[in-house]
Amino acid sequence: MITSHRKDEFLNWVKELLYHSFVLGNKKDSYLETMGYIEMLVEEHRSLRGEGSRLKALVPSVSHFHTRLHLKEAFDMYDEKYAVTQRRHLAPTFNEIRHILNLSQLIGIGTKLKFVSFDGDQTLYSDGGNFEEKSGLSYQIIELLKAGIIVCVITAANYQHDGSKYEVRLAGLLRRFIKANLGSEEIERFHVMGGECNFLLQCKKFKLSDGERNACSRYEHKARLVPVEHETWQSEQFDAPKPYKWDKDKVQAFLDAAESSFRQSKVDLRLRTRIIRKATSVGMIPGGEAMVGEVPNGHGSLKIKAEALDEVVLRALDNIQDLPEELKQLHYCAFNGGRDCWVDVGTKGVAVEALQAYFDIPKHGCLHVGDQFLQTGNDISARNTCATIWITSPKETFKILDHLLRFSLGMDKVDRAAAAAKADDLEELSLSPATSPRKTPPMPPTMDVYTGELIAKDDKAPI
Ligand code: IMP
Ligand code: MG
Repeated sequence: MITSHRKDEFLNWVKELLYHSFVLGNKKDSYLETMGYIEMLVEEHRSLRGEGSRLKALVPSVSHFHTRLHLKEAFDMYDEKYAVTQRRHLAPTFNEIRHILNLSQLIGIGTKLKFVSFDGDQTLYSDGGNFEEKSGLSYQIIELLKAGIIVCVITAANYQHDGSKYEVRLAGLLRRFIKANLGSEEIERFHVMGGECNFLLQCKKFKLSDGERNACSRYEHKARLVPVEHETWQSEQFDAPKPYKWDKDKVQAFLDAAESSFRQSKVDLRLRTRIIRKATSVGMIPGGEAMVGEVPNGHGSLKIKAEALDEVVLRALDNIQDLPEELKQLHYCAFNGGRDCWVDVGTKGVAVEALQAYFDIPKHGCLHVGDQFLQTGNDISARNTCATIWITSPKETFKILDHLLRFSLGMDKVDRAAAAAKADDLEELSLSPATSPRKTPPMPPTMDVYTGELIAKDDKAPI
């Protein structure tokens, strides 16, 4: 069975090495010695910039590490909490190694942190969902902004420069910014990059008119997402990729090829799906009721199975290999988004690189948090440009941010975020409609997250 696209060679290698310690009596010292050895190999790999390192020979697909990995310390910390070395029947698992590597990365970046980027779907909110106002992540993000850290959501979701669409996805967070009374300077540290690396927007604080306040808000201000001109963040003065200058004909020829690969897969795999095309991407999404008639013997009208999504992506990647060199050279990613799959021109790695130049931040001061680090994922490209954290759900992001606040900003910031969350919970409990004249904000419009089209109330959602 071909499942190599679901493997991470470095993590598997660490797991195998630790298995020896498990078999040889599960002694903590043995694990720490192994972790110390890997830490030394990683340092050697870093100092040689990968050229001829022993680690590269052992794990050929290993990429660059932008900060030191504190593997011994992280293992010790993890074991103190989860008593891994007390187990008799279960060796450390892949997910535990992932958590330990994440921890070692957070310790490594520590107070050097200047920039954090987050993937959107499945990192800040569930796939296809929106950032809910009650999400605990908002308090932690607010602490980052207050501490002078630049925060950017780098998402594949592509609504071009239309801030109102990204505002729908992030409505809960933007309201929390206002509720926390962030100043303009703090709010303006928050950015959104849409379409992988193609559209940058900045958060700004606007005063509401009396009319707007009466209609919808109990606050005097609103946080909005405003486009940053391509010429500004991709200015000639920055030595970084400039997506808006990529040859439009080549981009379209590349997407034509990706689209025809998707169309062929749709036929071959009997998929009841829809294919959508945008300026820098092509996607396959569940086709809805309408496709049942069109493909009577098939699947994928409501949910496309994971195997089909991976197959469609791997076929697209294969077909891209047959394209002329000048098209293959474009920056692109092909990924399984969980419910859909896409080929995008542009990558999150390009986004991080361009933003590092724009904000003048060194690689070792940046961190990207995401859920898609397999070969069929779209966060993996960020590994080339900064330290990365691999999570699998917004719940894990919450834990990571607690550690990040602690290691990078100090324990008091963790406590402050927790206290703010608690105070809000209490306030909301005490504000029942009977006791409070509080105006409830209007429900954000329902939007098709794939296309950004608004869905009229009596329309059926597309899936
Ligand atoms: P991310 O996890 O934040 O990078 O968002 C990925 C999701 O964005 C995909 O799974 C899609 O549901 C959605 N999306 C909307 N428009 C696009 C697009 O043009 N390209 C890729 N993904 C898109
Ligand atoms: Mg994601």
